[in-house]
Amino acid sequence: SENGLLLAVETSCDETSVAIVEGGRRVLANCVSSQMETHERFGGVVPEIASRKHVESITRIVEEAISKAGIRPSDLSAVAVTQGPGLIGSLLVGAAAAKALSLALDVPLIGVHHIAGHIYANALVAELQYPAVALVVSGGHTELVLLESEGKFRRIGQTRDDAAGEAYDKVGRALGLPYPGGPHIDRLAHEAEEEIPMPRAWLEPDSYDFSFSGLKSAVLAALNQARMKGQTLNPAHVARGFQESVIEVLVAKALRAASEYGAKQLLLAGGVAANRGLRAALKSACEAAGLPLIVPPFEYCTDNAAMIAAAAHLKWKRGRTTPLEMKSEPMLSL
Ligand code: KG4
Ligand code: ZN
Repeated sequence: SENGLLLAVETSCDETSVAIVEGGRRVLANCVSSQMETHERFGGVVPEIASRKHVESITRIVEEAISKAGIRPSDLSAVAVTQGPGLIGSLLVGAAAAKALSLALDVPLIGVHHIAGHIYANALVAELQYPAVALVVSGGHTELVLLESEGKFRRIGQTRDDAAGEAYDKVGRALGLPYPGGPHIDRLAHEAEEEIPMPRAWLEPDSYDFSFSGLKSAVLAALNQARMKGQTLNPAHVARGFQESVIEVLVAKALRAASEYGAKQLLLAGGVAANRGLRAALKSACEAAGLPLIVPPFEYCTDNAAMIAAAAHLKWKRGRTTPLEMKSEPMLSL
């Protein structure tokens, strides 16, 4: 197809996902099989179990996506896959499947950076304008990325310790909430009438980096102190204080970056983009600054293959394909 009909595979963490996207924009199928229930009882993703689960599901999800999209495999223009970063055992399952398809169908392979995928989830719903600044917040990443032009990324800030989602999940665990804690903390924070104030990690005045482990420790310390005094803190008040701290820093740094680099748009990406408080705070800050904000629908924020297809489509248009010898890279840089 002239528009490019891409099949994409994403298996970097605990979701097995296969998507079929036409013209970089029309999502014909975006099938996601989550292993959440499997990992829930461990309170986090167990890498060895994740890769085994990918092996069990990948063929079924590929078939499901092809049948849902109603395409013939021979119509595909290319096969895309997340090259990294991620869990190596999980990445390898997706890469093996994508390479086999590429070989069997005699179409090019396109390796995609997972964060480029998260960012280009925005291209599924909007026309991107450059320069743009992207705030990527997920369980594995917290990054500010400058997009100078199409496909040209510069990471200007990142977390020095925990990712934002990781901090949410650790605080959730301390509050006795189910895994992952993010959505539960979001709900509690929303319901709370008061907050227990928590510190903000601004780091050096000109830094676009983040740090969330001190905040997590402050929450744990507050809970412990109360416990030693025989008191219990209202979890909703803790959740609200924690969430306010995370949001204030994320929003302030994203807006400062957008202003410094003359961004035409602010793009939000990653699972934490589902956070109601973060969306609302970004929306009003962007309105006040006259900065267009783009937020993809939730299904394209959490790990999914449609976003990988969207990023791959830009490479495909420019003939930037990847040799079949592609190595999966757990620490691939953007
Ligand atoms: O992008 P994602 O699905 O997976 C990774 O690539 O990490 O992000 C998952 C993360 C989890 O840490 C989860 O707690 C967080 O996103 N999350 C939220 C919310 N919904 C999901 N965090 C805060 N508020 C939410 N509403
Ligand atoms: Zn992700």
